[in-house]
Amino acid sequence: MVDANSTANFGVGAFLLAASEMVRYHETENKSAMIRPGEIWPDNTGTHINAHGGGILYKDGIYYWFGEHKSDHTSAALKGVTCYSSTDLIHWKNEGIALRVEPEGSGSDIEKGCILERPKVIYNELTNKYVMWFHLELKGKGYEAARAGLAVSDYPTGPYQFITSYRPNAGIWPENMPDKHRTLKAKASDFEGKLWTAKWRKVIDEGLLVRRDFEGGQMSRDMTLFVDEDKKAYHIYSSEENLTLHIAELSDDYQSHTGKYIRIYPGGHNEAPAIFKHKGTYFMITSGCTGWDPNEARMFFAPSIRGPWTQHSNPCIGKDAELTFHSQSTFILPVAGKEDTYIFMADRWRPHLPSDARYIWLPIEFENGLPVLRWKDEWNPEL
Ligand code: GAL
Repeated sequence: MVDANSTANFGVGAFLLAASEMVRYHETENKSAMIRPGEIWPDNTGTHINAHGGGILYKDGIYYWFGEHKSDHTSAALKGVTCYSSTDLIHWKNEGIALRVEPEGSGSDIEKGCILERPKVIYNELTNKYVMWFHLELKGKGYEAARAGLAVSDYPTGPYQFITSYRPNAGIWPENMPDKHRTLKAKASDFEGKLWTAKWRKVIDEGLLVRRDFEGGQMSRDMTLFVDEDKKAYHIYSSEENLTLHIAELSDDYQSHTGKYIRIYPGGHNEAPAIFKHKGTYFMITSGCTGWDPNEARMFFAPSIRGPWTQHSNPCIGKDAELTFHSQSTFILPVAGKEDTYIFMADRWRPHLPSDARYIWLPIEFENGLPVLRWKDEWNPEL
């Protein structure tokens, strides 16, 4: 039999237990109210966020994080582009698949098993549509297609409808390619087995690959989008066999390329472009080209998106700065309502268990007017 005393004790015990649970819960809450670069980042269901090579759209008080869904065994797209939403950039609700790959055998450009990377979404005020661009490689063709893919939705979380994929700016010369380089005779086939020589670098600089791809359109791989203050949008992508970045203007509805584009750093081998504008200056952080392995970030700045772009040194400072803290850039997010506050977003890839890739988010600090990145074990965007 349980006597009154023991019931009372049990009551007190249960109360104390409940209280300690509460403290623990709040500790966990507070603990989780932090961004912890490189750690597992659970969503509202407790599962590690699966939105790699991602980017963020801010709309009506909500952040929407879009990224590549990665499976455990392959980096190819088996599901599509995921979307998560948040109001504080720390707690993320899984909104499911925003753009779904098409069934196997459908012959669609975005058939299951294609490579669908680095999706970014921007909102278009004229059409009231959400516009997603991504890097697309056709199923079974490795990285040879090098296309930009387009999908559109009436709602931020989707579903997005796949519209088209192509190599941008077919039949159009870059604005900053001198007339005399447009008619040069050197051909890519002249340099087979003779890459990385001084002569090869010169012909790359002079637009050898732009001429090679002139009719079919320019290669478009690692990419980001940027909407400027005047609402003009730009698609920034690694082109020319990943040797040269292109910055291409998008049409007013953001759903096609206008044909106005520039090349920057021909032969510079930049990937993973991420861009932001701070006090009238455009800053871009990129990586070098070492596949899934991290390398040293690069930084560029320009007074206009059309250049001229100037290279500055690696923005990372401290231990592992030369490997971008073991990560590769994907996006730079201006924090809503906070002047001069930007988050550098990067991926720490895990090619042998792609779904376990980690997110390296760090606040951008400024020193002498230039962005710098320092490692932080944990931090809160509100602090
Ligand atoms: C990286 C690129 C990734 C992915 C990978 C494949 O350099 O940034 O998006 O394409 O190569 O090896």
